[in-house]
Amino acid sequence: MSLLTVYADGDPPAALRELRDPEAIAAELAKIDVDYRVWPVDAGIQAGAAPEAVLEAYAEPIARLREEYGFGSVDVVSLDPDNPAREQARQKFLQEHTHADFEMRFFVAGGGQFYIRSGGQVYVLLCMAGDLISVPAGTTHWFDMSERPSFVALRFFTREDGWVAEFTGDRIAERYPAMQPLGEARG
Ligand SMILES: [Fe+2]
Repeated sequence: MSLLTVYADGDPPAALRELRDPEAIAAELAKIDVDYRVWPVDAGIQAGAAPEAVLEAYAEPIARLREEYGFGSVDVVSLDPDNPAREQARQKFLQEHTHADFEMRFFVAGGGQFYIRSGGQVYVLLCMAGDLISVPAGTTHWFDMSERPSFVALRFFTREDGWVAEFTGDRIAERYPAMQPLGEARG
């Protein structure tokens, strides 16, 4: 189940509130211009799925999003816990960064955790299958897929160079709890 935890940034960070209701999560994130929606998922698609199968299963919603936002391209990221490149893939997005263009992800299966810093607060959103999230251009954020990543996500791009990460160099991510691998107790 998706979960939003809002922290007052600090050392250590202080948890202010937790939201689980999708409408409440959407309303909270809308305050910082983050677009959050929940869509139906195709249960036949699991972590490690072939990109072609994912694109075919979601052809209709992909077409709708392309129309709405003018995306030029879409690709599929699919990682399962046995992927030998998982730690390398994890580290790449674990440092705070921004993009020149907005970032949109749709979680088809599994889950991942976004951390968005805005206005002295950090919004930690555990995204699960069905979650669509858009982080505005220039908004500082990072992403954790846990030590045992398990997810399939669609990524949408409006321009080829828009999604290059510009790292802030701030080690803020180290102060926040890592994503717990799915299926393991949160603590
Ligand atoms: Fe990013």
